[in-house]
Amino acid sequence: MIRYGGDYNPEQWPRAVWAEDAKLMREAGVNLVTLGIFAWAQVEPAPGEYDFGWFDDVMNLLHDHDVDVCLATMTASPPPWLGHRHPDSLPVAADGQRLSYGSRCHLCPSSPAYREASLGLVTRLAERYGAHPALHSWHIGNEWGCQVPACYCDLCAAAFRRWLSDRHGDLDGLNEAWTTTFWSQRYSSWEEILPPRRTTGIPNPAHTLDFAEFSSDALLACYRAETEVVRRAAPEIPVTTNLCNVMPNTDLPAWAAEMDVVSGDCYPNPGSPDGHLESALYFDVWRGLKDGQPWWLLEQAPSAVNWMGTNPAKQPGRMRRDSLQAVARGADTVMFFQWRASRGGAEKFHSGMVPHAGPDHPLHRSIRELGRELAELGDVAGTRVQADTAIVLDWRNWWALEQESHPSDQIRMMGRLRDHYDPLWKLGITTDVVRPTTDLSKYRLVVVPNLYLISGEAARNLASYVDSGGHLVVSFFSGIVDERDQIWMGGYPAPLRDLLGLTVLEFDPLLPGASTATSLGEATLWSEHIQLEGATAMETFANGEPAVTRHAFGKGAAWYLATRPAPDAMTGLMGRIAREAGATPAVPGLPEGVEAVVRVGDDVRHVFLINHTDQAFDEVPARGVTVRTERP
Ligand code: GLA
Ligand code: ZN
Repeated sequence: MIRYGGDYNPEQWPRAVWAEDAKLMREAGVNLVTLGIFAWAQVEPAPGEYDFGWFDDVMNLLHDHDVDVCLATMTASPPPWLGHRHPDSLPVAADGQRLSYGSRCHLCPSSPAYREASLGLVTRLAERYGAHPALHSWHIGNEWGCQVPACYCDLCAAAFRRWLSDRHGDLDGLNEAWTTTFWSQRYSSWEEILPPRRTTGIPNPAHTLDFAEFSSDALLACYRAETEVVRRAAPEIPVTTNLCNVMPNTDLPAWAAEMDVVSGDCYPNPGSPDGHLESALYFDVWRGLKDGQPWWLLEQAPSAVNWMGTNPAKQPGRMRRDSLQAVARGADTVMFFQWRASRGGAEKFHSGMVPHAGPDHPLHRSIRELGRELAELGDVAGTRVQADTAIVLDWRNWWALEQESHPSDQIRMMGRLRDHYDPLWKLGITTDVVRPTTDLSKYRLVVVPNLYLISGEAARNLASYVDSGGHLVVSFFSGIVDERDQIWMGGYPAPLRDLLGLTVLEFDPLLPGASTATSLGEATLWSEHIQLEGATAMETFANGEPAVTRHAFGKGAAWYLATRPAPDAMTGLMGRIAREAGATPAVPGLPEGVEAVVRVGDDVRHVFLINHTDQAFDEVPARGVTVRTERP
């Protein structure tokens, strides 16, 4: 069964509306809602005074209508009474300013007051609903770290010191790891160490890097504490939390390890011509977090959102296409934010499955149609996406790559990922997104965009993959520093030099807007001076120096890109490398813009064909989707 539904926020509506909601949900094929995400202040109107009666009624009503509940722990937006009584439960920004309540996500992860109040509530929720027949899963918090990824308060300073002492052992270890000999930054006692608060100039990059990881871990500790409570009360019920698309704020692999099932929220800009590529990438990232296990799309917008500045509506058919694209790429659950569009509040202009006009509206009719269609696709659930190509993403690298004081401030992880991901998508090649230390042996082609920070273990993993016959593509400014953000000495990129068969003598990044001529056409962003040590120059800069190289290594080949070719040239180059590697499109022969993904189960293949163009193609209408089920 594919689960279908959305965020349900009955606390925003009088009881009479609840009855209509339940009836409409059943008619629309809704079989799951995420419930109570922002209901803390309604179930605990004053500290320790609980009012669960109304919530019981909602749970029972939903159950009577065969709608299951992914029950939120309600901890993402503490009621005003918490911040009022305990200002230290509120987060502090890098400039020392404490943020007020009045929006949401106003929490300090190291605050005992927040921890105590949130776990008090979660304990009661778990006791009360852990055995409720409507309970399907737990939704811990909401989009952790999305709005406030880090807190710089004194409580977090103390927690950061504890984290650092676990990581570095003693102060000498920390001073060494952070290169505090530079600019007289040596610490002589733990008390001197602070979060990287606003300072005079460029902060110590190793300090900032450790703080990014600490901040993700601090939020994860809150998630874990809640998870332990609900698991104790209801060990059989799966636990998840909705990841906020793909961001540097939280270390997704570390989080996924503590989730029973990965779920995420995806909001492509309907006005952007390549929003569907962004979504495809997020879906592939989430699927990779648990090694291909099906995941849940917990939120998307039925049509417009309210937070983009200008918020275009989704064109007819777009909502269905987005939803089936998620299923194609491994989702077993398709959900929206939110069931009923709000009457007031900050999100009243965010589309809902039931719009302000009520159910007699084209948008709600398309919601019902999608419900019917997903019900027919039930046996897709549990099948696995087929991919023979992988792309590497690592969060510590992401944090390190985007630090200040680098050769170029234009090298941003998401953009660079897309520079590599989009050509593969255009070639119709399905990609998994993996970590640098993942066993790569099942892939024909592995692409490594800008892995600036690399561990020795990761470098060895890439080399052994190629040695045993793999094909690897590594782009510039990779293999430069170790996990502490210290240069791998002995010529760039030292840990990859043997594998790539070259040394980079000097970086020579291009100014914003500038380009450089290469045999692949104009390239942007970066150039460098390479000395070949076994690799062959496949493409060159205008001065004849290597721009793209290939090195036969063991039974495989390692390619290196010393610049950023224009998108078409990049697609051509990736196509050439993919052919050599034997990486193939999911369905060969499709025109660009028709996305094909295959999900495979026991004796069944589901072929998803998603047409993002205005041209009809064979069995796929313009802007349409066809799902072909094959039973050999
Ligand atoms: C996020 C949140 C939701 C809602 C939507 C609006 O995904 O989790 O509560 O605010 O954005 O797009
Ligand atoms: Zn704090």
